[in-house]
Amino acid sequence: MGLAPLRSLFFALVHRLDSYERIVFCYGARTPSDIVYKDAVLNEWPKLDPKISFRMTVDKGDDSWKGNVGLVTTTLDNLDLWIGNSNAVVCGPPIMMKFSTFKLIDLGYKPEQICLSMEENMSCGIGKCGHCQLGKYYVCKDGPVFSYDQIKDFPEIWD
Ligand code: FES
Repeated sequence: MGLAPLRSLFFALVHRLDSYERIVFCYGARTPSDIVYKDAVLNEWPKLDPKISFRMTVDKGDDSWKGNVGLVTTTLDNLDLWIGNSNAVVCGPPIMMKFSTFKLIDLGYKPEQICLSMEENMSCGIGKCGHCQLGKYYVCKDGPVFSYDQIKDFPEIWD
């Protein structure tokens, strides 16, 4: 479901495609039937522009699936990007965000180049319940998007 918030970002980037050399969109779903925006993801978005590279995988395939099978972190293998001049945006379940972030760090991304969408634990959404507290931040009021650099030292980051 992390694709839902990134969909808006994707369209914003596509709208300003002249400002970017490349956009690499990495998407993982548990199974083919869990893919959201299925027709767009499988058929429309990968064909929008040659500057857009769409990498897709599922954890577990089925008889209809002809694409990659493996964790979403495998879509980060062999990225043909100038890491020093790019940013990564990650959204999804905490465990996926954790290992994707660690892999991005291994690839050479600096913590300030990685944006994490941390809305997983939000409840009231207006800064009253404290449910979303992450270190000194309220995710609902101060985020929900943070750079990894801002939050990497909080022990509860991946809870
Ligand atoms: S969701 Fe309640 S304080 Fe942030």
